[in-house]
Amino acid sequence: MNILEIKNLRKIYGAGETQVRALDGINLTVERGEFVAIVGSSGSGKTTFLNIVGGLDVPTGGEIIVDQKKIQELSDDELTVFRRRKIGFIFQQYNLIQMLSVWENIILPLKLDGRKVDEKYVLEVTQLLGIDKKLKCLPNQLSGGQQQRVAIARALATKPALVLADEPTGNLDSRTSQDVLGLLKITGSRFNQTIIMITHNEEIAQLADRILRIEDGQLVTR
Ligand SMILES: Nc1ncnc2c1ncn2[C@@H]1O[C@H](COP(=O)(O)OP(=O)(O)OP(=O)(O)O)[C@@H](O)[C@H]1O
Ligand SMILES: [Mg+2]
Repeated sequence: MNILEIKNLRKIYGAGETQVRALDGINLTVERGEFVAIVGSSGSGKTTFLNIVGGLDVPTGGEIIVDQKKIQELSDDELTVFRRRKIGFIFQQYNLIQMLSVWENIILPLKLDGRKVDEKYVLEVTQLLGIDKKLKCLPNQLSGGQQQRVAIARALATKPALVLADEPTGNLDSRTSQDVLGLLKITGSRFNQTIIMITHNEEIAQLADRILRIEDGQLVTR
């Protein structure tokens, strides 16, 4: 089953001379459970694409259907709820809250949504990611790789339909990047989660089921 359908997605920033066609007619379907890597040169439209798919930015045209729902038809409030329940974001800057413990960071998206924490599931995720001994720590007591794994656990805590990751290993050395990505892949298949990940690293991209290349806002076959 398709978890994501994108039809003729376009995004134009600015107007006149400064106009940028960041996305120029993207068509794509992604199946549930797929692990997709997105590569492409700087400025090609990767982040724009991911942010629009996750409802953080609005397209100029086209259609995005996530889990059978057209996201453009949602009101602002509905979109906020949709993002919390359906999307897990992982950013290059881990965006952890320094005043909260690792555990509190991980379950924060559930708390914000007034949802009950499935402790068994969240604990299993932290075990798979190898951070279960660090749950009482504060983020600044962890290494970069450990913090990124906390960010991954936080993204998975809500059992999202889609995990969107923008250069999740951009700040990590290559060995740690491979480890973290291997874990993301394991948790993804363990819980049948769909992952779309932007990376500049070809080795990391090779871990995906499918590699998409964006050039000048268009998907190109390599
Ligand atoms: N808010 C914005 N306003 C105007 N132009 C923008 C905006 N965001 C992105 N752009 C432009 O859209 C194009 C695509 O940017 P985007 O951030 O999607 O690239 P990217 O592929 O993620 O690049 P990188 O690999 O450097 O992160 C670029 O030309 C950029 O300058
Ligand atoms: Mg980017």
